[in-house]
Amino acid sequence: MYIFKKNPLKSFALNNFKLKKFSLLGQAEVPGDKSISQRALIIGLASIGQTIIKGILDSEDVYYTLKGVEALGAKVDINKSKKSLTIHGVGLGNLKSPKKPIYMGNSGTGTRLLIGLVAGSNATVTFYGDESLSNRPMDRIINPLKKMGANFIFSEEKKLPITVIGARKKGITMPIKYKSPVASAQIKSAIILAALTARGATEIEEPYKSRNYTEVMLKKCGVDISSKTSKKYVNTVTVSGTSYLKNCSFNIPSDPSSALFIVVACLIIKGSKVKIKNILYDSMRLKVFKILIKMGGKIKINKTSIDTCEIIAKYSILKNINLHKSETTPLIDEFPALSIAAACGKGRMIMKGLGELRYKESDRFKSISEGLRYAGVQVNTFKDDMEIIGTRKVLGGNTIVAKNDHRIAMSFNLLNLFSEKPIKVIGNESIMSSFPNFFSTLKLLKK
Ligand code: S3P
Repeated sequence: MYIFKKNPLKSFALNNFKLKKFSLLGQAEVPGDKSISQRALIIGLASIGQTIIKGILDSEDVYYTLKGVEALGAKVDINKSKKSLTIHGVGLGNLKSPKKPIYMGNSGTGTRLLIGLVAGSNATVTFYGDESLSNRPMDRIINPLKKMGANFIFSEEKKLPITVIGARKKGITMPIKYKSPVASAQIKSAIILAALTARGATEIEEPYKSRNYTEVMLKKCGVDISSKTSKKYVNTVTVSGTSYLKNCSFNIPSDPSSALFIVVACLIIKGSKVKIKNILYDSMRLKVFKILIKMGGKIKINKTSIDTCEIIAKYSILKNINLHKSETTPLIDEFPALSIAAACGKGRMIMKGLGELRYKESDRFKSISEGLRYAGVQVNTFKDDMEIIGTRKVLGGNTIVAKNDHRIAMSFNLLNLFSEKPIKVIGNESIMSSFPNFFSTLKLLKK
């Protein structure tokens, strides 16, 4: 189920791609950025007045976040022909306590951010999700939010289902100083959203700067929020509590992490050349393309406005390189596709500091290393580091179980385009989380 379409794609079969030689040629359209789409909905809920959202990603994760936002009291008008949404928010203090638990599907971002918002309110809300989301760690947000006065009811493992009792149910939201052990935009954003109702300033420190859309979007809504990054990469965000969010509108560019799958397909399939327009221009999210350029990828990034760019990618023979922890941290969502590029490249790709991959929609460290090995690619792992020995002849002939992980499903579908024997992916439905038109986009480009 989605916002504008009921079922945008009925068939996931890509088998015919293997029957004869083909290239990818032309112009591709990639849907809206997932992180910004979900934040726009949540900020719309917390604002007073109307928030108009254009370019929203029409996918399962965003759909469940929208349902969550409605359950917490927002009224949402959907304009199907203009593909825009108008959110009538309830403000920071007026979240509804829904009678039923809220189902969040596979959406880690939607869940953790909404838990943060509820933690700073006077509402009581239960969240639950699919099998993958129910296995993801929530203690990373519960611990700081408890310090801010919120209460939680959860299982021993601190995983979903979780009931959040907002700090203002019986008391006030406390401003805190919190040092996050991991650089995570979801942890940082959950604390920031709770801190909006605190009296005073909350300070969050993270070891590296994670994506900062919550900060940028809230600033646009009049929130007093600032950040600074030290020479040693430590990022500190300071946010002051406020009585209301000025309503503002959001125009969402295409998701660079989704565009990456089309770019990698283009790089590995002989004779390909594709242009993708209107991609979010954000140096952190574009880092993966810079790495691919360093590997010899023929990729051009042309800035087209203050926050958008177009990317042109051409078939290339990639040469693998070494990546240190400081380079891998910002690439958290990009590893699955990058590892496919490395598997099809020449030489050794050494990637260090990939521990956070274990806490994604699946244990991506395991899914990638095992999946590549099954396909005949040599992969060596040591603690949180991975070495992929690229080969221009990937054997394939194996089956991959995507385990509700959209990026694992898309990645191994890419490898299937390159491998000598077909790779069968079980669980392609997971792609609906972030890029429902993934296959139809590839099919349109196939020449
Ligand atoms: C996201 C943050 C990242 C990323 C996820 C989206 C966000 O997760 O992997 O896909 O929108 O805040 P972490 O915060 O766990 O690193």
